[in-house]
Formats: sequence, C-alpha cells, structure tokens
Amino acid sequence: ASAASAVTTAEASSDTATQSASAGSTTFPPGFLWGAATAAYQIEGAAQEDGRTPSIWDTFSRTPGKVLGGDTGDVACDHYHRFRDDVGLMSELGLGAYRFSVSWPRVQPTGRGPAVQRGLDFYRALVDELLEQGITPMATLYHWDLPQDLETAFPSGSSAGGGWPERDTAERFAEYAGIMAEALGDRVELWTTLNEPWCSAFLGYGAGVHAPGRTDDVAALRAAHHLNLGHGLAARALRAALPARARIGIALNPHAVRPLTDSPEDRDAQRRIDALANRIFTGPLLKGAYPSDLIADTSHITDWSFVRPEDLAVIKHPLDFLGINYYTPAIVSATSDPTAPRRDGHNSGSHSPWPGADSVAFHRAPGELTAMDWPVDPTGLTDLLLQYTAEAPGVPLFVTENGAAFEDEVGEDGQVHDPDRIRYLHSHLSAVHEAMRRGADVRGYFLWSLMDNFEWAYGYSKRFGAVYVDYETQERTPKSSARWYGQAARDGALPP
Ligand code: NOJ
Repeated sequence: ASAASAVTTAEASSDTATQSASAGSTTFPPGFLWGAATAAYQIEGAAQEDGRTPSIWDTFSRTPGKVLGGDTGDVACDHYHRFRDDVGLMSELGLGAYRFSVSWPRVQPTGRGPAVQRGLDFYRALVDELLEQGITPMATLYHWDLPQDLETAFPSGSSAGGGWPERDTAERFAEYAGIMAEALGDRVELWTTLNEPWCSAFLGYGAGVHAPGRTDDVAALRAAHHLNLGHGLAARALRAALPARARIGIALNPHAVRPLTDSPEDRDAQRRIDALANRIFTGPLLKGAYPSDLIADTSHITDWSFVRPEDLAVIKHPLDFLGINYYTPAIVSATSDPTAPRRDGHNSGSHSPWPGADSVAFHRAPGELTAMDWPVDPTGLTDLLLQYTAEAPGVPLFVTENGAAFEDEVGEDGQVHDPDRIRYLHSHLSAVHEAMRRGADVRGYFLWSLMDNFEWAYGYSKRFGAVYVDYETQERTPKSSARWYGQAARDGALPP
C-alpha cells in the first residue's frame, strides 16, 4: 500500500473504519498503520560525527544535575551505525510503520544556512531501508534537539534570550523544513512538524526540567507561540516543496484533564490547565485564535504582544492529520495550599510548568502505576480521540505515541518477559478501537518506543522499549511485548 494511503483514502475513511471497528470485535480496518516510534536524540548517538554539532540537549545533558546519572545521548542506542539491523528487526517483528525524527543539528549544524550532505544521506538511507522492507516512514522534523547555536547566537537587539522564545527560530525552522522536504520528499509521505510542543515550551523554558533549562514564564509563553508559528511556516514550506500526496500534521500531547470533583472551583482548575496544555495549541491551529480565557489568565505575566495578527492565519494552515501522544490522564483541583503538588508526575524541579496557575493542584489517578509513576488509564485515550474528532471534524487522527516504562530485566532464559507492557498495550489499543467504534477516524498507532532509549531527564533509567537494549553491548532483545505487538500488527487485530 502506498505510504500515505492510510490518510488519503478519506472517502473510505470514517465509515469503513467505524464499521470494521464494530462492537465486540478487536479487528482494525485494513490499511490501519501499526507502527513504533523513536526520536533522534534518544537513539542515534554519533553525537559528534559527520558534521553534527551540539543541540540544546547535548548541552543540557552535560550540565551537572540536569539528567539522572549524568547520562547523555552521545552513544545512546548507536542507531546511527546500526540502523540497518534495527530496520531488519522491525521487519522481523512485523511492524508496518516507523516514526522517526530528524536531528536538526545533523543536517543543518548551526540552524542556518546550507545543509550537510552526510546528514541528509543518513536519513535517505534509513528511509530507503524502511521502504525496502515495506515499512511506511513517518518523519518528525522537531523532537526537541534545537541546534545549540539557535539558543545561543540569537539576533542582536533581541531581548528574548534565544531559542523558541525568539521569532527568528520559527523562521529558521521553516527553512530547515524546506531542506528536509527537498531531501526526503520523493520517499516520505507522512510528515509531522513538531513533537509535543507543550514539552518544548513549558518543560524547556518554564519548569526548566528539559533543555534548555530556563525557568521564565514569559519565555515559555513566547516559546509556545513561536512553536505554533514555526509549525505554520514549516507546514507552508513543506506543502510548497512536497508532492501532492504528502500528508502534513503535528504531534501534540493533549492532556486528558479531569477535575477532582464536580465543584465549580475544580472545574475552573480543569479549564485553566486545559487552556495551558491543550487550547494554547489547538486554538490557533484549528480556530486561528488564542483562547480569550488563556489570555485573561496570563495577563499579569504578558500582554501577548509577541503575537502578530498575521501569524494566526499562518498557524491555521490546514492539517492533513493530527497526531496524539498519550500516556496518562491529569487530575486537577483548586487549592490554596502552598504545599500542594503543582504538576503531574513527569517532572521534578522547583518551577511550575503552568504559568499563572498557582491555584491548581495535581492528583494521581487511582490504579496501577508504570515505572514513571504514571497511572495506567486507557479511558483518557478514548476521551481524547473523541474530543479531537469533535474539535477537528474531517481531520484524520493518528496515535503518534503511546506506551509505558516498566522495570524490565533479562531473565535467566535470556528473554525479557513484560506482561505489564502487554496489558498496557492491549488496553490502550482497545481504547483506540473503542474510540473508532464511536466514530473517531484513527488511521494508525505508533508504540513508544521501538527500543529502550534515552528518556530525557531520566537518562537510561526508564525503559519504554518493546525491544530491550543492553547499553554495554548494544545487543537488542525483543521483549515478549514486541512479539505480541508484532503479531497484532500482522493480524490487524488484538488477540482475545
Ligand atoms: C513523549 C516524548 O515525545 C518522548 O520523547 C518520550 O520519550 C515519551 N513521551 C515518554 O516520556
């Protein structure tokens, strides 16, 4: 099947999808993509090879105290040298699609100017290998590894301090998107511009627990806008350079935000976090405007004068699909207790990632926890898929990431048995199926992650892979979940 047929067969879309995903059956429609995802900095290694220069994550991971154990992506899974074997493994497992990201500093080292051919060659070779194995590639242009030069060498006269708080970074991103469209446009049909811009803006510039590690609420809000603008400009550049069959989307991490109780105060806490986590992106992307309650909630922080009226039309560039990354829901309440937790599990650090939301506390949902201490609750995924079906009518959806970290070990039999991950995948794929049965037009699912990798501030301590990686030997061992998932992918259905 042609790579983008999962998206282009819009005529057949909703109806067929809805019918084949009928109640009581766990069969997915033909053409549904069964994939796995990774990101460049988390797996490639070869950090100083072939002209690659540091990204903000190279710098951040070298800053003492920022990443657990002082881990860096210098070697990671050494995928840069082992990509052929890794693609061979995907094929052996039975995967139908693979979502990878391009390392910006590998192809355009300073974030400006001409591209490095060796960098482009790597991605062309990777894609060729995938296509040869019949695996559909999905390319993500930005999975958090901004060229360090764009963070440091910002235009003179600017006061925003470099990186995404700068308008110029959005322009540079569009230029880089154009380079990648030229390099891969003949062979990649599925493109996502940004991965989880919420994390880039609010964990990177607000909470400071991700690169570049700044703790500045204004910078975080400016970053969110310039990420949106970067998406719009890049989508325009991609559309201009790519063949008509190409499909362009974005991968968001919408929070499934739930109020602790039904009180008006808790519902208002939900509204605030929904604005800061979700509508700050989907407002301009889908409606061409920032939500007025978001602007009111943050008016004591910024006047939003960095948003130019003409930006909004650029950001509202039509989406060919929307990618949703989902792990766990967020439960919030109103509080006046200064010691209440100000964020959900995935980041520690002294500054809150929620500008202007000091009156909101976060709570852990009941039930099983993963190794990240994230509660397992697949209903959040069904809810989000149905919510975006309603909010973005006619826009196909992908689950661009979903998965779980557990404390995997190689057993005496040399195998890695991970029944918890199989249960997690089973329940979340069932949740996708349920959303489709209720009308969501979901075209594919990408398991996070193909293999264990560099889990950002947690370094190598958290294993999300379907494939186990021994970082000493770089040996790959498919976990039982990889076999289970590969079988589901081959069958196009979940086992009973
Ligand atoms: C989302 C991010 O896109 C990915 O890079 C990360 O490893 C997973 N979540 C798990 O935290």
